[in-house]
Amino acid sequence: MPLIQPLLDGVYPTVARGEGIFLYDTEGKRYLDGCSGAVTTGLGHALPEIVRAMTEQAERVSFSYRLQFRNEPADELAALLEDLAPGDIRWTFFVNSGSEATETAQKMAVQYWTESGRPEKNVVLSRNLSYHGITLGALSLSGHAARRRLFEPLLARNAVVTPPHCYRCPLDKTYPGCDLACADDLERHIERLGDDRVAGFMVEPVIGAAGGAIVPPAGYFARIREICDRHDVLLIADEVMTAMGRTGRMFAMEHWDVEPDLIAVGKGISAGYAPLAAALASDRLVQTIRKGSGVIMSGHTYSGNPLSCAVGLAVMRYVLSHHLVERAAAAEAGMRERLEALQRRHPMIGDVRGLGMMWGLELVADRSTRTPFPAAAQRAARVKEAAQDLGLLVYPALSGADDRPGDAIIVAPPLTTTDAELDLLCDLLDQALEAVEKDS
Ligand SMILES: Cc1ncc(COP(=O)(O)O)c(C=O)c1O
Repeated sequence: MPLIQPLLDGVYPTVARGEGIFLYDTEGKRYLDGCSGAVTTGLGHALPEIVRAMTEQAERVSFSYRLQFRNEPADELAALLEDLAPGDIRWTFFVNSGSEATETAQKMAVQYWTESGRPEKNVVLSRNLSYHGITLGALSLSGHAARRRLFEPLLARNAVVTPPHCYRCPLDKTYPGCDLACADDLERHIERLGDDRVAGFMVEPVIGAAGGAIVPPAGYFARIREICDRHDVLLIADEVMTAMGRTGRMFAMEHWDVEPDLIAVGKGISAGYAPLAAALASDRLVQTIRKGSGVIMSGHTYSGNPLSCAVGLAVMRYVLSHHLVERAAAAEAGMRERLEALQRRHPMIGDVRGLGMMWGLELVADRSTRTPFPAAAQRAARVKEAAQDLGLLVYPALSGADDRPGDAIIVAPPLTTTDAELDLLCDLLDQALEAVEKDS
């Protein structure tokens, strides 16, 4: 078995094909893709429009090197993103994964300050409940203890800022009486370091893998923007999981009318049809570098690859022409209703939270005290396995701050999912939760 699997000795079915929101394994078993893989396949599988665009591009040219040529799909997709992106965000740097997108954004922030004559502004802050990617630069900013632990000696930074986790407030406060103390914690850290040192602050609009779809309270991001402005700190939104419609807005930060200086996107931009991600940057930032060195110091062999960009362009055109962002917004109430109905049936669901078509269920041993399951109970993993046995895919996530155990699962089906398919999803999830409860 020379292939290194996630669990080296794990047993995984072999995928044979996908159709709509379903995947089929080589034994013919069907799986409802209740979490879009890793919150990625927002359009479902094997859409003829995307396959056609991919084939047509492959027949013309699959690869050209960015130091030798520009290519039309990359130019057209960047122009489309310029139209869609909020505020002053205009420029796109294509990469291949979300981790590369957050790292590129981090580097662009530091380069911007260096080229503005302030090279000592080179620290990027982040929250201690977050996931920004698995490569070393991205992991450095991630508040995800399990993924960091082995590599701490290689990581440049610690994720230190308090997250807005109202269900288990790390500051033991309650909203709104807390007056957004978690947002003010950013200012405390900036002042501790000195704002002449801090280049940027990276945040997920909705905390995904490390939190199970944690949505910040009203006013949180407005306060964060104010703090960043007061201290000349760039706001970097990691929208790798949330962007391109998942939360019912093209970019999740639009929910709070807050404009970041840099945005990392991934997953939804090519909906799993090709590896593609990007760092999007404000005009102010890029013009400063343009007048300085004239070079964004980053890039990969496959950056702006014509085949991936043609796929991304076809995906984004499909998202727009099928009004999938509006569809995700319209699905929000129904998803909440269905998941809260499940919560009433299953005491282990402590909290239901989310936006659009990105939802988290926090799993607890005791709902009245919000006591998490011990890590050894592997609750999220067991629900994921029971669901998969029944033909449903859900995404296991964490739900607590670094020093606390906690389980959550993410439910985030393709944005194309119909009401009948949502009913089927919840019915299968109901059965999976029941199976785990009976077995405990
Ligand atoms: C918010 C966020 N940022 C970054 C990443 C890293 O993306 P990738 O796995 O494509 O490197 C992820 C992946 O789950 C993510 O959810």
